[in-house]
Amino acid sequence: MTNDVRTLEWTGDGLRLLDQTVLPGRVEYVVARDVGTLVDAIRRLVVRGAPALGVAGAFGVAVAVRQAEREGWDGAALDAAIARVRGARPTAVNLAAGVDRVLPFAGKGADAVAAEAQALLDEDVRGNRAIGALGADWILNRVGDRPLRVLTHCNAGALATAGWGTALGVVRELHGRGRVELVYADETRPLLQGARLTAWELDRAGIPCVVQADAAAPSTILRGLADVAVIGADRIAANGDTANKIGSLGVALACQSAGIPLVVAAPWSTVDLAIAGGDAIPIEERPAGEVLTWGGTRTAPERVTAFNPAFDVTPARLVTALVTETGVLEVSAGATPAAAGGRLRG
Ligand code: MRU
Repeated sequence: MTNDVRTLEWTGDGLRLLDQTVLPGRVEYVVARDVGTLVDAIRRLVVRGAPALGVAGAFGVAVAVRQAEREGWDGAALDAAIARVRGARPTAVNLAAGVDRVLPFAGKGADAVAAEAQALLDEDVRGNRAIGALGADWILNRVGDRPLRVLTHCNAGALATAGWGTALGVVRELHGRGRVELVYADETRPLLQGARLTAWELDRAGIPCVVQADAAAPSTILRGLADVAVIGADRIAANGDTANKIGSLGVALACQSAGIPLVVAAPWSTVDLAIAGGDAIPIEERPAGEVLTWGGTRTAPERVTAFNPAFDVTPARLVTALVTETGVLEVSAGATPAAAGGRLRG
């Protein structure tokens, strides 16, 4: 992404967020100067994507400390506000990890917290660049050094991170090397992160792409129209089971059936070694209205409700490679984050 649009930026007294709910039609910002505004922005997906949520969580502590200074909160009120930020969304481990990273600075004031959050933001961008290079190397080595057809699901780009992107970081790197023929961007029901955000990023970067319905992805893969699928992750268990946007599992099953690699691109901070396997990953369930309406109009019968899990878990056996900023794990071949932890933590 060019530098004219920033996903997140600390203003000195608040966190400025690019409003991802109105893209691509409008480029607008939400400035969170209080915890209520920030928590609402996180829940509404103004800011979203695991690494971006981590950075938002870290700056969220700065927002809380600044608000506590302004409004004269006691310690208990500050702790409760920070807990609200930490728990605003449950699946991406990065949110809680971002909060926890800066907590030791809370006693030193909002500026000290913001400085540490900024360090996390800068690390995220650097990490994404490394993921991009390592992922491109692995893919070209495995699939063949030629222009590739890449399928991706949801948005794991600059908008989902502090900049550049994880899965789209790999795509950007491949494109820079002249090795992208076409990207299939799954539209990502029900909130259309693929159609609205991934397609927006790829178009701005001049990377050829088509948007397809999520339901088209397995067929695209089995028809031999994609060479590799690259997705992001919200939480990766110690055994390599990977939570990502609902629909990722269908992509993974199709990849296995077609014999093409499924590459998960994520920073090491998305690995949660405290969780042994995918069954223990908390899966966010979102409001029924996201599924039952279209553009504000009810599409399902009035008495019918919805099941709206925001994420699914792809078993480790279907993850061909996990690309982090410090190395690549061939998970379906038996490499696990747990076994590699010390080496890959960086
Ligand atoms: O609900 P979202 O939009 O926050 O879901 C985002 C995803 O599932 C991404 O693929 C994941 O967070 C990785 S972002 C680099």
